[in-house]
Amino acid sequence: MRLSALLVLCTSAIVAHGQSDTDHPSSTVVSIQPIEASTSSIDSLAQIQYDPTTLEAVIASYDAPDVAPGAGLARVGIYDKAANAWASSTSILSLENFTKGYAPVITLSLGPDGNVIGVSCKSEKIDAGHTRDFGPKVTVRRTAGGKKPNLNRPIALSKEGKVEEEEPEKTFLQKYWMFGMGILLVLVLSGGGDK
Ligand SMILES: *[C@@H]1O[C@H](CO)[C@@H](O)[C@H](O)[C@H]1NC(C)=O
Repeated sequence: MRLSALLVLCTSAIVAHGQSDTDHPSSTVVSIQPIEASTSSIDSLAQIQYDPTTLEAVIASYDAPDVAPGAGLARVGIYDKAANAWASSTSILSLENFTKGYAPVITLSLGPDGNVIGVSCKSEKIDAGHTRDFGPKVTVRRTAGGKKPNLNRPIALSKEGKVEEEEPEKTFLQKYWMFGMGILLVLVLSGGGDK
């Protein structure tokens, strides 16, 4: 009795382990770049771990940007340092969103392969009612796969550049009338020979 219970526990643990092995959680770094500033360095804002299947996500690390008084706008997105270019669509928001009293909410939009194709960010004001979780938040959503257009049969052009008409299917009679005539002839001839 006890042994079988243990066995069940072990198997379920193995199954659970196997499952977490198959859906590889992905990780991405969201960067922030102040614009309209003398220094427009691109800094890491948050490292986010997300599961493209379940769309669960956690912020693994977060670096609040330094917001100078009167700071302007900033761009937020996935920055590819190797390619020196933004690797996702970005969103622009005022740096005030990262000051005290606001909790930034980062939204990752996943493409069909589960990679991040867009980042948007906005802040929620933390008021007295939000005393518990006032840290940055992350949500992940999947953009629906685009509907594929229904294409007609490609138009075939003949060598002269004319639209080739498909030959209409011949009826059974049209195809086999010669064969039928032959049989009839044999029947008539052999019948005639009997008499
Ligand atoms: C956050 O940024 C947006 C876009 O710039 C702006 O409209 C909004 O007022 C900002 N929120 C705060 C709290 O600064």
